[in-house]
Amino acid sequence: MDKSMTDIKSVFQQKFGALPEAIYSAAGRVNLIGEHVDYCGGKVLPAALSLKCRVAVRTNGTNIMRIAATSIALTADIDLSDTSRYKNLKWGSYQAGVADELKKAGYNLVGCDILYDCSVPFGSGLSSSAAIEVATAYALAKLGGNPIDKVQLAVLCKAAENNYCGVNCGIMDQFASANGKAGHAVLLNCSTLEYDYVPLDLKDCVLVLANCNKPHNLVESKYNERRAEVETALRLLQRQYDVANLADLSPSQVEQYRAHLPDVIYRRARHVVTECERVKNSVEALKCGDLVAFGRILNQSHVSLSRDYEVTGAELDALAQSAWEREECLGSRMTGAGFGGCTVSLVKKSDIQSFIAGVQEQYTRKIGHGAVFYVAEIADGIIEEVI
Ligand code: GLA
Repeated sequence: MDKSMTDIKSVFQQKFGALPEAIYSAAGRVNLIGEHVDYCGGKVLPAALSLKCRVAVRTNGTNIMRIAATSIALTADIDLSDTSRYKNLKWGSYQAGVADELKKAGYNLVGCDILYDCSVPFGSGLSSSAAIEVATAYALAKLGGNPIDKVQLAVLCKAAENNYCGVNCGIMDQFASANGKAGHAVLLNCSTLEYDYVPLDLKDCVLVLANCNKPHNLVESKYNERRAEVETALRLLQRQYDVANLADLSPSQVEQYRAHLPDVIYRRARHVVTECERVKNSVEALKCGDLVAFGRILNQSHVSLSRDYEVTGAELDALAQSAWEREECLGSRMTGAGFGGCTVSLVKKSDIQSFIAGVQEQYTRKIGHGAVFYVAEIADGIIEEVI
């Protein structure tokens, strides 16, 4: 039995006075390509990580969801008959929001004890919040004896984040956390929720994540600003084109209408439509095993996110540029919302250590502090552990 599993069981017993009935986990995610297009109806290509949120759970015969965590001292008791009143909890509002959405959708919920043990670093842009939400939703759905539909769970978790926690995110993170598959990326059409698994055969390469360690406090306001800008872009472009989503337009259609768009709005739209092309080309490259082409597309995506979408900042730019200078690296770009968080780089397996040392040295010289590196393992989204 692995050591962390023993730990979560005994910590659960200390906190709740009995052993858990089950252990579930939901994954953090890395988005390979298709950034800032999920809320424009585009396709994205995320993958679930082995960094995850584990929950040990048992029913407690009450109507209260009692939650605790291995890494923080805070606890919360959430009354399942009145889930609407926990929006301002210091810790626990994501869980309460999920319970609230599940109830609204007609799920049967039963009182339970849940212990959280999260290895997705908080604030890293690897979707620790989606992992917490999906793990909670899965546990609540299972304990209440509801049929499990992982796509619907992702949709409800996104709704919790939008409606309960006030974060206007798209569907990508929750979807990948719930539906990711080991060794595969998920090609998700965010306007229809149709999806396919794309085998991630990286041959002699691995994905290296680098957290730039920038406090990422402006993320929400800047994120919402970008969403408003692309809504403006869509409204203006709809004067010319009969489309429902910005992602339905081609780069040349946006180009043709450029004269009618304010420059910032034009550049935001250009990012979205060119990023959608890059998703298509990346899937082709991956299917043909052309990692050099895939790496080149990663670089192009970063440039577009930096210049047109302006969501990178000095730290992520420095990390990506330091990676581009290394010959062990086939491509690198920021991943997730940006304004902090992580880059993802495609790196030769045999040279991981020299890559990390080289990037760390350059990055520290430019920015004044170091980054934290992880070699990504692509795992299943939701896992039920045998206990
Ligand atoms: C965050 C959001 C996602 C997506 C990405 C950018 O991770 O939660 O919905 O918009 O940013 O691609």
